[in-house]
Amino acid sequence: MSTHLPLLFSSSIREDFWNYCHVNTIEKPIILCDTNTLRDCLPLLGNQNLFRLICIPDGEINKSWEQLNELLQQLLVLNVHRNETLFILGGGVLTDIGGLSAALYQRGIPHVNIPTTLMGMVDAAIGGKTAIDFAGIKNFVGIVKQPETCIIAPIFLKTLPEIEYQSAWSEIVKVAIIDSRELWELIHTDASIETIIPFCAHHKYDLVQQDEHDKSIRQLLNFGHTIGHAIEAFYLSKNKPVTHGYAIAKGMLFELYLAHYIQSISSDELAQMKAIVLTNLLNNDNSLGIELSELKETMFHDKKKTGTSLRFSLPITVGKGKWGVEIEWDTLLKVYSIYY
Ligand SMILES: NC(=O)c1ccc[n+]([C@@H]2O[C@H](COP(=O)([O-])OP(=O)(O)OC[C@H]3O[C@@H](n4cnc5c(N)ncnc54)[C@H](O)[C@@H]3O)[C@@H](O)[C@H]2O)c1
Repeated sequence: MSTHLPLLFSSSIREDFWNYCHVNTIEKPIILCDTNTLRDCLPLLGNQNLFRLICIPDGEINKSWEQLNELLQQLLVLNVHRNETLFILGGGVLTDIGGLSAALYQRGIPHVNIPTTLMGMVDAAIGGKTAIDFAGIKNFVGIVKQPETCIIAPIFLKTLPEIEYQSAWSEIVKVAIIDSRELWELIHTDASIETIIPFCAHHKYDLVQQDEHDKSIRQLLNFGHTIGHAIEAFYLSKNKPVTHGYAIAKGMLFELYLAHYIQSISSDELAQMKAIVLTNLLNNDNSLGIELSELKETMFHDKKKTGTSLRFSLPITVGKGKWGVEIEWDTLLKVYSIYY
């Protein structure tokens, strides 16, 4: 394993992790875990007493202001210095809040992401977006801060619950639909997850290289998220959290209908793309599951809002999309009444 690449793919995580520490003269690494990754993932790196540990409770509900405060306190209690590295061992929730804490603590300390979910390996741990949810809105407070590196070791997936594994497939299918015919073809073969992970990780990394701050082409990755984030926030506010992937799959289905309604994609293309979302991600449940009106307020507070309309990233064919498509609320109501 090379130690200067932004993405490090590891088939021998303990060795590669300690090699990274050795090269960077880190003696007692500071590791941020959640309760599950402490139990299931940390042992793959070594015995607990080799580390300075910070552990927070798991779950989206903890991507919060209160937990961020707690995390910053813990860094202070550990007397972490500004040139010390924070290793974040976990899924997207942890890399989002952990990356933000690393950005804020003493005006920024280096951090390394070690994703332990499929979602983290193909998407969340790459690209430097960090955030907490705020006032019921997903990722409302955050910053872009790149990790020093992202160490991707599929061995962590062995203990990942099936529902979390499935959740990540929404992001994989999203990329295939909106920006990569090659990935679309790959996922229609019997390609292994060890092939799909580096493909997705490199794809995201390349996109971020072109548009780190989400001003243009990176917005393609918002496909499914304008609706999906509102769905996720809605269920979270009712204390019935759903996985990020489930919400994004629901969002993608709606946005596919929207793309068809505005004639961005043909009926044949809709049928092809809908099939994979509905069958593989949503267990053939074609409902939105919520009244569209329930999502309005959150959507208009979300970052994609401009004026009275909402902005979407929508496919124009399989593997190709456009971003910044302005859609009026009335159009969404029409789509809802026609397709659901
Ligand atoms: N920053 C970005 O670019 C970006 C991109 C996509 C998603 N996200 C964010 O990521 C979050 C979702 O991330 P996620 O799907 O990884 O969920 P998650 O971080 O909540 O992890 C899912 C669950 O799996 C547990 N877990 C993690 N790894 C495990 C392992 N190897 N074995 C056993 N249990 C394990 C966790 O403790 C948690 O309970 C959302 O908040 C979403 O907004 C961010």
